[in-house]
Amino acid sequence: MKVLVIGGGAREHALCRSLSQDPAVTELHCAPGNAGIARLATVHPVDQLDGTAVTALAERLAADLVVVGPEAPLVAGVADPLRAAGIPVFGPSSEAAQLEGSKAFAKDVMAGAGVPTARSYVCTTPEEAAEALDAFGAPYVVKDDGLAAGKGVVVTADRTAALAHAAACDRVVIEEYLDGPEVSLFAITDGTTVLPLQPAQDFKRALDGDAGPNTGGMGAYSPLPWAPAGLVQEVLDTVLQPTVDELRRRGTPFSGLLYAGLALTSRGTRVIEFNARFGDPETQVVLARLRTPLAGVLLAAANATLADLEPLRWSEEAAVTVVVASEGYPAAPRTGDVIEGLAEAEAADGTAWVLHAGTKADEQGRVVSAGGRVLSVTAIGKDLAQARERAYQGVAEIRLAGSQHRTDIALKAAAQ
Ligand code: AMP
Ligand code: GLY
Repeated sequence: MKVLVIGGGAREHALCRSLSQDPAVTELHCAPGNAGIARLATVHPVDQLDGTAVTALAERLAADLVVVGPEAPLVAGVADPLRAAGIPVFGPSSEAAQLEGSKAFAKDVMAGAGVPTARSYVCTTPEEAAEALDAFGAPYVVKDDGLAAGKGVVVTADRTAALAHAAACDRVVIEEYLDGPEVSLFAITDGTTVLPLQPAQDFKRALDGDAGPNTGGMGAYSPLPWAPAGLVQEVLDTVLQPTVDELRRRGTPFSGLLYAGLALTSRGTRVIEFNARFGDPETQVVLARLRTPLAGVLLAAANATLADLEPLRWSEEAAVTVVVASEGYPAAPRTGDVIEGLAEAEAADGTAWVLHAGTKADEQGRVVSAGGRVLSVTAIGKDLAQARERAYQGVAEIRLAGSQHRTDIALKAAAQ
């Protein structure tokens, strides 16, 4: 099977790593990729937002499957011309990707499907925003309606800051604050059948102790030893299957990866957000534990044959990933710095590896930083404590001027 992956972050590196280990995959391509992906796949300098160019590349390569990683190409509709050309594609149509592209659309689908989520108002004027903020009280939650790479959400006790964020966006969703731990649960779906993966937890804030601004995610781990037994089945029954059914009923079937960001509140499980693609960095730990070869699963979703698939097989091992970000991330990431220690950061026995996010090779062939999140150092172990230790051993080997990482990824969970 010839597979083309679209995207160039650590999520796509993780996807490429798993696909490269699948014996069914005979050729692996990625566009645009990054310096790490280039070691596993043939990379192509194609604009990932250009559906015509991506389709032309897939046709030229005679790809049997195209996997679209990030939200931007999905929302831009890159999956649509691929499907129209008869190429199996993993990733939803632009219409179905609105589940991530518009928070207001997601709220409407959830209301139609009876999915539990925070009560909310959609506001377009400062007066409406002020009224909504006062209806819920502090802490305030203000979300930019459009795509913002995890950085469009402000959660604050400061009413002035909440109003300022609302004023800076065209359209915002203001909603009630959800307390309780967060869980990311992914499901692979062909629009009818829904196959949940293993839950993971992400660390959204930039600094230790969940301080600092929201980011795309600073680390993740799986499994969640503290999660209630039966969580996956509950979320499948109350969130994932009803949402997939509702989208099909509306004539916008969702095929690809449905990501439910959940809060386990004192009043029950609530959806914080949906995404229309694999989470980053959660994918790094979820795929580290998946034993079933990946390509066949993604192809079954693309071909609407998921119902025929054997149950997924999972490793009992734990996985932890720690994101190394550049100086100034998330506000103003600095790029262009040489990264050293990449080989030393990987364990000889294969229990720790480095996934590249924002990296590229410079003219001298050196790997340099090229984005906010630069690397995702990932490790497995017999438990979270061992996986953590290995991941942080790897992080300690990385030399990148001004880089930052959290030191408390999976710390609390490992102590349980
Ligand atoms: P989102 O982009 O909707 O996932 O929001 C980013 C992050 O903001 C989430 O992972 C939460 O940590 C936080 N957040 C979003 N919505 C809420 C909410 N209603 N209550 C509390 N925290 C929230
Ligand atoms: N880790 C959060 C996200 O992928 O949206």
